[in-house]
Amino acid sequence: MKFLTTQAVSELDLINQAITNEGLQSISHQAEVSLLGEGAWHFAFLLEKEQLVLRIPKKIAYEKEVLFLQNELTAEYAATKAFYSHANRAKGGVCPEQFTFFVQEELTYTLESYLGKSSDIGDLSTNESLQYGIEIGEFFLALETMEAPYKGIGYLKCDEDGQLNGGLDMTQKEFLYEETKEYDEELSRLLASEYEFDKKRVEAVGRELISARSLDGERITFTNQDTSPENLIFSENGFKMIDPYPLLSPGVSLAANHVFNYTFLFPLFYNTIRYRKGNYQQSLLQLRANASGFIKAYAAHSSQKQTNLHIEMYLKLLTMAHEHGELLSATTLSREQIIRYGTKAQIEERFVYFLKNLAQYPVEIPSVC
Ligand SMILES: Nc1ncnc2c1ncn2[C@@H]1O[C@H](COP(=O)(O)OP(=O)(O)O)[C@@H](O)[C@H]1O
Ligand SMILES: [Mg+2]
Repeated sequence: MKFLTTQAVSELDLINQAITNEGLQSISHQAEVSLLGEGAWHFAFLLEKEQLVLRIPKKIAYEKEVLFLQNELTAEYAATKAFYSHANRAKGGVCPEQFTFFVQEELTYTLESYLGKSSDIGDLSTNESLQYGIEIGEFFLALETMEAPYKGIGYLKCDEDGQLNGGLDMTQKEFLYEETKEYDEELSRLLASEYEFDKKRVEAVGRELISARSLDGERITFTNQDTSPENLIFSENGFKMIDPYPLLSPGVSLAANHVFNYTFLFPLFYNTIRYRKGNYQQSLLQLRANASGFIKAYAAHSSQKQTNLHIEMYLKLLTMAHEHGELLSATTLSREQIIRYGTKAQIEERFVYFLKNLAQYPVEIPSVC
């Protein structure tokens, strides 16, 4: 197990350094700590006695050596801490109550409350998965009722005074104008592709939905982009959320991101090195049920939300199709791209599927109820 540290010490030593740095009693036996899991970036250990999770960043991610970047890591962990406390105000106990971190070249870690073991999404009944989807939809809606605690838009950065704020210094209007223009350009590039598909229909649907985009009633929300099943805990006491990728954005865009991921991304990326551990091809019904539950809770009470969600979902589909088209036209793929997206043959298969879905995407909103 290789950790992001300049020290040549054992795993137990490094863990003990983190523990004693936090004023906790060091451990003498490996049995007092267990490996909970690993994502792309961290190893997570459970400290049995304290019921705390110690995360230590990996030295290798996506098969490449990770550079130690103090400011980036500090901003990342500070953003997680901020999101956890914001999220807990929206829904008590949804995220760890406790979170601290330490960032030095010799030793970097985070320490947070343990939220228990999650059921695998594939082991849930479709009804259970639907219920979790409803809870997540309600939670996203609750986030939108809260004022964003930071200025700016986008992923969080630390300024010179150590203050967090959104990386983009723009008004909501400017941001949406720029973003919508990019979607328009992506559609144009897609239509210029050599691939054969129903371009007339894709263009008609696309231009209509893009021009109908109006997020006037939306507010900038402090929300989370990474709600993959590996970062959600499906427990008897409801769903819980860890390891967020927080950002400031119109809330509906991130609601659409969740629905898109559970409808298209996870079901279609099961064959990538990045996601194969999730076995998502075995949980297609549960993924879909989660997305349906989310939509039901998030959009059922407001026709404006339904419209906005429908359009934002389309835009996620468009941008993913465009990304696949770009990857296909690249001469070679980097190793990281292959890990994330798969081989060219796999990318092409997905691309064709996305194009079909773009052509079939309804301009009118299908009924939610
Ligand atoms: N606070 C926590 N409570 C319960 N399980 C956790 C907690 N933090 C991490 N885990 C487990 O460890 C795994 C990896 O941790 P994670 O923080 O998601 O790593 P990465 O940043 O690499 O994605 C998670 O998928 C989850 O199973
Ligand atoms: Mg994770």
